[in-house]
Parts: sequence; structure tokens; C-alpha cells
Amino acid sequence: MRTTVLSFLLLFAACDSSNTTSADDQCASGERWTGGNRESPFMHPGRDCVSCHTQAGEGPRYAIAGTVFDLPHEADDCFGVADVIVQITGADGAVVELTSNDAGNFFLGKGAVATPYTAKLIYEGRERPMTTPQTDFNCASCHTATGTNAAPGRVLAP
Ligand code: HEC
Ligand code: HEC
Repeated sequence: MRTTVLSFLLLFAACDSSNTTSADDQCASGERWTGGNRESPFMHPGRDCVSCHTQAGEGPRYAIAGTVFDLPHEADDCFGVADVIVQITGADGAVVELTSNDAGNFFLGKGAVATPYTAKLIYEGRERPMTTPQTDFNCASCHTATGTNAAPGRVLAP
């Protein structure tokens, strides 16, 4: 019974995303976004949602956004890791929790978190904190495929 339900879900997911993703063994997840700028919560994993939406004047303005990956140097548009809890704690102690979607993307449309904030990822009982407090909520601006001066690479699943 469980197997039947699962197969059905997988089949449904495959049909649903067939024209915006494709199989790609260069991605740890085996799946890549190929839908260009087609609006979707799964669009462009790893890329800078905040800047593109602002520059294009299209797409939602995000207060917080990023993508969780399995490997530190995954390419842009590779699907990341789903169901990871991204816990952001503001300077005032207020906590916002987001969950990564099928593409690994997480985002918050509106809301203010006091800075500097800290971030911690929680997945299957494991945790991975960012030890340095930050003030920029656009995670992809530092966490790129190659890494920048500002961060060693991707936001990684614990
Ligand atoms: C290179 C530019 C670009 C990047 C990068 C980008 N987007 Fe978008 N996004 C767009 C554009 C353009 C639209 C509007 C498309 C339309 O209206 O057809 C959009 C629309 C969306 C929508 C639809 C919103 C609605 O009104 O229903 C969502 C959700 C979305 N983007 C999520 C994301 C996320 C999450 C990321 C980052 C992981 C991201 N986007 C990265 C360009 C981008
Ligand atoms: C200004 C640059 C910058 C921004 C923006 C940033 N980080 Fe980081 N992040 C770093 C640096 C540098 C490290 C490595 C040192 C450390 O752990 O503090 C890091 C490490 C991490 C780690 C642990 C190691 C890893 O690679 O996964 C996590 C988890 C993380 N960041 C999550 C986030 C999340 C979530 C956001 C957005 C809400 C974010 N970061 C925004 C710079 C940044």
C-alpha cells in the first residue's frame, strides 16, 4: 500500500514538473531546473532570487531567500535538498523557521528579523549552524557555487 502511494506521488511529481526540470547527473540531486524564468517556487535553485526579482521588477520581493544543497560547489539550477528546516534567530531572539522545498529553495515574502541574525539548519535530527552572525538575508549573495570571499560555498544540509 505504502509503495503504491509513493509511486503515485513520484509519478505525479514527474508529470507536474516535466517541462521545467530535466534529469542531470551533474547535480547531486539528479535534477536540474530548465524552466528559465518561468515563475515557480522551484525556479533557479542556488541563484540570487532577491537581486533578480528586484532588477527584473518581476517576481516577489523576498525578505529572506536561499537554497540548501548537499555539496559545497553545486552548480546554479541544480535541485538541492528538500525538507530542511532553516531557522533564523534575530538579534532580539525572535525566531523564523522556513522549510526548503523540492528544489531546496526557501524564502520569506514579508517580515523583518532584527540584525545581526544567526542561522541554523536542521535535518533528520542533525544540525548545522552558521557560526558568524550576519546582516544580509540574501543567502545566495555569499553562498555561491564557487564560494566567495564571504562564504566557502553553498548553504549545506546538515
Ligand atoms: C534570473 C532571474 C530570476 C532568478 C534568479 C529568480 N527568479 Fe523568480 N522570477 C523571475 C521572474 C522574471 C518572475 C516573474 C515571471 C512571470 O511573471 O512570468 C519570477 C517569479 C517567481 C515566482 C512567482 C511569484 C508569483 O507571483 O506567483 C516565484 C515563487 C519565484 N519567482 C521564486 C524564485 C526563487 C525562490 C528564486 C531563487 C531560488 C528565484 N525565483 C530566482 C526571475 C527570477
Ligand atoms: C555576508 C555573507 C553571508 C550571508 C549573506 C550568509 N552567509 Fe552563511 N556563511 C557565511 C560564512 C562566511 C560562513 C562560514 C563561516 C561560518 O560558519 O560562520 C557561512 C556558513 C554558513 C553555514 C554553515 C556552513 C555551510 O556552508 O552550510 C550555514 C548553514 C549558513 N551559512 C546558512 C546561511 C543562511 C541560511 C543564510 C541566509 C539567511 C546565510 N547563511 C547568509 C557567510 C554568509
